[in-house]
Amino acid sequence: MSSLKDVRIIDLPKFEDLRGNLSFIEENKHIPFRIARTYWVYDVPGGEVRGGHAFKTQHEFIVALSGSFDVLLDDGTEKRNYHLNRSYYGLYVPDLIWRSMENFSTNSLAIVLSSTHFDLDDYIRDFDIFVREASR
Ligand code: TYD
Repeated sequence: MSSLKDVRIIDLPKFEDLRGNLSFIEENKHIPFRIARTYWVYDVPGGEVRGGHAFKTQHEFIVALSGSFDVLLDDGTEKRNYHLNRSYYGLYVPDLIWRSMENFSTNSLAIVLSSTHFDLDDYIRDFDIFVREASR
């Protein structure tokens, strides 16, 4: 069972250069899982909220590649809000954490690295069911 104690911001390597900066992520090195899938969320209209679910098994690492947004987390006991606004760090979110993403800035780009292939059965979309699962 995961809790907000397992959530953390992870700083990524950053090569600063007059020609522009470069950062990267290696699985099982900068993030604590193997990457099975990468997806990204973009062109989010002002005021829209994404997420609103938890995953039974999936771990994720979320980076604001461009712009900014908030990631609201809840482990069934406490809530925490992370504001992501740089491409050289990201938020590690383990399994069984309820999340939503909001306050997307214009032209923001959220990239998400996931530990699993896409599986609808891994979603928990009912908050009460999530709280029950999380307290087991
Ligand atoms: P969803 O995870 O509900 O988006 P969000 O949590 O950002 O609100 O996914 C939206 C839709 O995209 C949903 O119909 C499932 C589909 N989808 C895939 O087919 N593959 C994927 O890897 C992801 C993340 C979503």
